[in-house]
Amino acid sequence: MTERILVIGALGQLGSELVVSLRDIFGSDNVIASDVRTPESSFSDGPMEIVDALNPERIVQVVDQYKVNQIYHLAAMLSAKGEAKPMLAWNLNMQSLLNVLQIAKEKQIQKVYWPSSIACFGPGTPVENTPQHTIMDPNTVYGISKLAGERWCEYYFNKYGIDVRSLRYPGLAGYKTLPGGGTTDYAVDIFHYAIRGENYECFLQPDAMLPMMYMDDAVRGTIELMQAPAASVKIRSSYNIAAMSFTPSQIAEAIKLELPAFTINYKPDFRQKIAESWPDSIDDSAARDDWGWDHRFDLEAMTKDMLANLSITGPQNT
Ligand code: SER
Repeated sequence: MTERILVIGALGQLGSELVVSLRDIFGSDNVIASDVRTPESSFSDGPMEIVDALNPERIVQVVDQYKVNQIYHLAAMLSAKGEAKPMLAWNLNMQSLLNVLQIAKEKQIQKVYWPSSIACFGPGTPVENTPQHTIMDPNTVYGISKLAGERWCEYYFNKYGIDVRSLRYPGLAGYKTLPGGGTTDYAVDIFHYAIRGENYECFLQPDAMLPMMYMDDAVRGTIELMQAPAASVKIRSSYNIAAMSFTPSQIAEAIKLELPAFTINYKPDFRQKIAESWPDSIDDSAARDDWGWDHRFDLEAMTKDMLANLSITGPQNT
């Protein structure tokens, strides 16, 4: 059966890149990009619809119109922004997921993808090599919504047989799109300042170690998980997935190797506390064993690729 894929939240950091890769693989007409915002010209090679993930009738309309049989539900409010608007973040993150899961059940959607995050962990979680199954006591609204969402995904799989798949992304960095409202955003912003030849003032401490991943790896891993045989996807809450871990001072050093004039100073804000509640590194052996996950980019490779591409495309306003 031909894949007919609806991507909700297509204009976000992940969606913008995932849509391009999905269209390459499955054909532009088979990947329906959607977002609550006005469409941008970048998706003009295929269908683009305005969809508010909080409006289930609208999702059903688009599912029916395009005979959708897979949904990637990416719309969410990230950790830092969520702390400014807790009830809005909870409502958006939870209700939209419940809408999608319920529609998947009613409309016999074959597969659903939904991203979780390292934010589902908390201060009581082991910090080093955080295991797949461990203490989870998130203390941000975003993290609580991810943990609750994981439980709902597993519930719909067990109770209704919905083929839901999910990854706990680390901080994601890519050159094509900017993140918005997250704690790991610094690892993208820093490159744009470096390319502009400006000093970067970091909102985390120099030693704030966090798990991170280059966008190419994240997109490839997501599609590989979705293409894996159902029997290999043994975890139906969300898989730990990892590539590298670094601190702001380590990424600054990596940038200086390429751009020796680069400078950074530190002015930690409330996001430092969020970063401290998350793991330093992640044990992703279940993903590696079950469906063959492997990362390709480390800090050095990511830094070189980011800078090379940004110097061609030009930095964006961060
Ligand atoms: N990158 C996200 C954030 O910082 C974590 O999933 O909120």
